[in-house]
Amino acid sequence: MPFRARTYRGTPRNLAFLAARLRKGELVAVPTETVYGLAADATSAAACRRIFAAKGRPRTDPLIVHIASLGYLARVAVPNPEALKLAKAFWPGALTLVLPKTKAIPGDATAGLPSVAVRMPSHPLFRKLIRLAGVPLAAPSANPFGYVSPTTARHVEQGLGSRVRHILDGGPSRIGLESTIVDLRDPRRPVLLRPGAVTRAQLERVLGVRVRAAVAPAGAKSAQVAPGQLERHYSPKTPVQLHARISAGAASRKPDEAWLFVARPALKGANIFWLDPKGNLKGAGRRLFAILRKLDDAGFQRIHVELPKGAGMAEALGDRLRRAAAR
Ligand code: TXA
Ligand code: MG
Repeated sequence: MPFRARTYRGTPRNLAFLAARLRKGELVAVPTETVYGLAADATSAAACRRIFAAKGRPRTDPLIVHIASLGYLARVAVPNPEALKLAKAFWPGALTLVLPKTKAIPGDATAGLPSVAVRMPSHPLFRKLIRLAGVPLAAPSANPFGYVSPTTARHVEQGLGSRVRHILDGGPSRIGLESTIVDLRDPRRPVLLRPGAVTRAQLERVLGVRVRAAVAPAGAKSAQVAPGQLERHYSPKTPVQLHARISAGAASRKPDEAWLFVARPALKGANIFWLDPKGNLKGAGRRLFAILRKLDDAGFQRIHVELPKGAGMAEALGDRLRRAAAR
C-alpha cells in the first residue's frame, strides 16, 4: 500500500498521539539537535527490525538507544563511574556512550552485540516524546542507508516519505552532525568511534586520560568488528573530491563543478559555496549536510571540498567529508 508520511508540529496533542504510535511498535521520525532520527521502541525486537527495513540498513549495523533521564541509563546499559562522569558533563547532548547492554535491549537493536550505544538528546520535543512513550527509543539517522543524514523534517520526507508514516518537525538540527561516539566498555581505555560536536579534548579533560581513535580494520565490512566504521557513508550521489588547499583559479577553470569551502571571502562565483560566512566551524557543521544535498541536486559533475584544518569540530567535519568522498 503506497502512502506518504505526515509531518506533525510538536503540539501536546500530536506528541501524545506519536508516543502512542511508538508504544504500538510503529516508527516515528524525530528531530534531534544532531540530525533527525528514525525512532522505535528500543525494547521491542519487532519495532527495531522495522527500522532496519525502512532504512534498507544492514542488520549488522547497531542502533543508538535514546533516553530522557539518567534514571533510564541502568535500564538499558551497565554504566561505570567514567560513563557517569561523561554523562554528567555532556548530557543531555551530542555524546553517545557504548557500554555493556542489559536484557531490556534486544539483540535486534544492537546487531547481536553484547554492548549498546546510549545517548540522552537535548532536543526538547524529542525528550518530551521519549518521556511520553515511556520507553527508550532506538534511532539511527532518518535517511536511506548510506545517504547524507537529514537535518530537517523536509530531508526526512524526501528520503523516507514513502516508508515512514509519521515525521515530527522540530526545526533544523542545531548541531547538524551526528553525535560523538565513545566506547567505554573498558573505562581505562576509552576509544573514540566517531568524532562529533563533543570534542576529543573535552572528553580527555573530563576523563583525565587519552581518548584514542578507533582504527578501522582495512576493508572492514562487518559491524561486529568495528561498528560505526563503515567507510562509505553520508555520501551524495555526485563524486566528492577532497583537497588540503584549493587554488584561487581552480573554480573558474571548471565551472560545471562545485567548489566548497568553510569560507573563502576572496572567492565569489556561481559554483563557489561556503559552509559559514564567518568561517565558524560550528556553523559549518550545522550546514554541511544541507549544502551537500543542495549541491547533489544542483547537477554539478563533481563536488570539490577544502578540508578544514585542526582538532575539535574540524575533526568531525573532516570525518564526514572523508566518508562522503569514499568510493
Ligand atoms: O547523533 C546521532 O547519534 C544520531 C541521532 C539520531 O541520535 N544517530 C545516529 O545513528 O547517527 P546512526 O545509526 O546513523 O549511527 C549510529 C552509529 C552506527 O554507525 C553504529 O555502528 C554505532 O553507532 N553503534 C551503535 N551501537 C554500537 C555498539 N554497540 N558498539 C559500537 N558502535 C555502535
Ligand atoms: Mg547514519
